[in-house]
Amino acid sequence: MQNCSKCHGNYGEGGDYPNLLIPESTIGTDSLLYKSNYQTPQFIDWFNNSWFAQGDHPARLEPFNGYIAPPLDGIWVTAPYLHNGSVPTLEALLDSRLRPVYWSRDFNYPQYDYDQVGWKYVKEEGPRGTAVYNTELPGYGNYGHLFGDKLNDHDRKAVIEYLKTL
Ligand code: HEC
Repeated sequence: MQNCSKCHGNYGEGGDYPNLLIPESTIGTDSLLYKSNYQTPQFIDWFNNSWFAQGDHPARLEPFNGYIAPPLDGIWVTAPYLHNGSVPTLEALLDSRLRPVYWSRDFNYPQYDYDQVGWKYVKEEGPRGTAVYNTELPGYGNYGHLFGDKLNDHDRKAVIEYLKTL
């Protein structure tokens, strides 16, 4: 409630989702995706004339320098995290010091980690083609969203356990 709900809303009975766009100066995550919306107006036009923009709940795409704070329902099962999937677990999302620069996971025998909440991954020494997620590539950055860093370990663990219930 103190650190997350103003952006992500609250859940359960009487839950409220504010549906906020958060500017780049606050969120600080990789900017390539939202910048690309300014560079490809034809995609915006296509989207806003497509079936996504019709019906009872029409969507509308508007370029913005930042990202939406997504609802967190079911977040425990949708790793990897951030819009570019650069962070393998919730634990690392909420403690930026743990985020691996290069990491890989087993696509043949994928295994989920229910303590750190996300994919079991291996920290790699360096980039290795498409087999390793390389956060140093443009668009693949894992920085920003530092809101979990100020939690102590006990509170961070409690938030992660709470997120498992959504
Ligand atoms: C100032 C607004 C703001 C605050 C405060 C905030 N977040 Fe976020 N959060 C965002 C935005 C915006 C994104 C999307 C960023 C992106 O994808 O680049 C995000 C992404 C996330 C994601 C990843 C979503 C996904 O689908 O990959 C999780 C999980 C999350 N936040 C949890 C939290 C928790 C837990 C807290 C409190 C410790 C918190 N956030 C505080 C705005 C906020």
